[in-house]
Parts: sequence; C-alpha cells; structure tokens
Amino acid sequence: MKVAGKDYLTVRFDEGVVYLIDQNQLPFAFAIHKCFSCEDTCTAIRDMTVRGAGAIGAAAGFAMAQAFIADDDPVAAAERIRATRPTARDLFFAVDRVFSAGQISVKAAVDEAQHLALANTEAARDIGRFGEPLISDGARVLTHCNAGWLGFVDYGSALSPVYMAHRGGKQVFVYADETRPRSQGARLTAWELANEGIEHSIVPDNAGAYLMSKGMIDLVITGADRIAANGDAANKIGTFEKAILARHFGVPFYIAAPLSTFDLDLKDGKGIVIEKRSADEINYQTGPDRAGIIHTIRVTNPGSEAFNPAFDVTPAEFITGIITEKGIIKPEIGKIASLFR
Ligand code: MRU
Repeated sequence: MKVAGKDYLTVRFDEGVVYLIDQNQLPFAFAIHKCFSCEDTCTAIRDMTVRGAGAIGAAAGFAMAQAFIADDDPVAAAERIRATRPTARDLFFAVDRVFSAGQISVKAAVDEAQHLALANTEAARDIGRFGEPLISDGARVLTHCNAGWLGFVDYGSALSPVYMAHRGGKQVFVYADETRPRSQGARLTAWELANEGIEHSIVPDNAGAYLMSKGMIDLVITGADRIAANGDAANKIGTFEKAILARHFGVPFYIAAPLSTFDLDLKDGKGIVIEKRSADEINYQTGPDRAGIIHTIRVTNPGSEAFNPAFDVTPAEFITGIITEKGIIKPEIGKIASLFR
C-alpha cells in the first residue's frame, strides 16, 4: 500500500525486528514503530499501536518468532501473546502455527510467520476480487470500524472490495462510522479512504437508521474478528446494531473475513470471548488542537463509571453473506464447513 507515493506494509518483519505503522498516531502523524522483542510486540498489540484482526494476527506470529529467536520459553511466550487481546481469532491462529513450526527450528518459525503474513495479504486481495461485483457503479457503502489495509495487511477485508471497485473505475461512496470509543472509522478508515482518493463521509455511530431510512445506503460491509461454525460473527462493538438496521430496511449486510478468522471449535457465537477494555477509552479522547498540538482531554462526567465492551456478536441470521478468499458463502454450518474441505 502506498503512503505519499511510498510502499508500506502495516506489519513487517526484518532481521528479528517487527515494524508497525503506528495506528495510535494516525491520522495526525505517520510513524513506524519498531518492536525488538516478543515483549515489545505484545505491548504494541495490547495498546493498539497495531490493531485489526489480520494485522494483530501477523504481529502475533512475528512475536512468537521473536520468542524463538531470543530463546525465550516458547510456552510462556505463547501464553503472553494470547493474553494480549482475546477476541480476534487470527491472533490465536498465528501463535499456534508459528509455535508448531518452532518445534522444528527457529528458521522454520520465522519462515512460518512470514508465510502467514503473506497469506494474509493474498487472502485480503482475493476477498476483494470476490466482493467487488457486489459493488455496483455509484454504490453507497456503510462500514464500521477499520477493516481496511491498516487492519488487514495490504488490502483490508471489508474495504478490499471497495478498493478493487474504485481501482476498476467504479464510482463508490463510503460512509465510515466513527466507531467510538477509539474512533477507528473516523481516524483510520477515513485516512485510508482519503489516501486512496475514495469519496467518503465520516458519520456518527448512531446515524445508521437515518441513512438507511433515507435510502442512502446500498450495502453494509464490515470485517470480523471471530466467526463461529454456524456463521455468528464477532466484530467491533456496534456492528450488530447495523445488522439489525440493515435487516429492518432491507439493506444487504456482508461480513468480509478470511478462513483464518473462523473458529470451528465454537458451535455458535455465545462462546466468543468479548474483550472488555479500559474505561479511559470512553472517558478520554486524544487529538490535536487548532494549532496542531496533541492533547488528551476528558469528555465524560468525572466520577461516572464507564463500561467498554470492545466487540459484539452478530447472529448469522442477520448476515446476507460472508466474503472469503474462496468466495461468498451464506452463513450456514454446511457452507462454512465446505470451505475447509
Ligand atoms: O479493536 P480493534 O480496532 O482491533 O478492532 C478490530 C477490528 O479491526 C474490527 O472489528 C474489524 O472490523 C475486524 S477486521 C480488520
């Protein structure tokens, strides 16, 4: 992906160092964050320097490889990485795969981590190819959170079809939900879309009913952090609300995710662990003043409690289709199982 004409990857590994686009500084500054150890990479995942299901999967794989390179206890390291963020399946998938490869040799662990990051990129590209025909010329797409190339290495999941459609000459307009409390839509999706030259508007998280009732949305596409065997899909908090609205107003609602996001050990979404994050994310916001100086300010009533579940689960019945690297499927047990044969 190009930023100011130069190629960058959201997550990259070179000579034992993990290089991350620092998503906490975007869109106000573009900086590369370096992680020199497994512990550094864990911290970056936890504090969301790197975030988004696929990107943290790639980073987690590299963190596991760093543990093997440093001769850390791999079992303890794997536990530490898994404890960083509980919901995204890709993180666990990558740790397990690199851990197994590391039983052969350190080189095998590094190769496997690199292979997974590349596979992530290829899957995201193929999601774009399969999803692109859903977007007609002139389409208006609503998306939630950031499932672009910052969140899923190099193409994105939900935004990959949008990028393909735009690059192919179609007119596309994207409504990006702000996605409180961390504002991944307002900060990251908007930055990506601007970077790609795609027309868009940031909208408040509670604008969905207004937009759909006015016929302003042709389809909704979001990413997913974990999908159960029956198609129930966890994604950023607020996604389920959009799915309910989409069904009410007859708007197609798609989830875009690679096979590495499916958790076939879970028969439905009830078993998905929902991460609870700090109340500070609700109580404080960070950004520049009019002079460009960054501040963190309180935006809620001091003394009030705040509750911050980071994800919700959209039941399969609300999902029109899941766009994967193998095609678009109905969220049904048999269809999902067939993807893995
Ligand atoms: O908490 P985050 O920002 O890591 O949220 C995860 C997500 O990026 C979204 O839920 C996204 O839609 C999943 S796919 C990149």
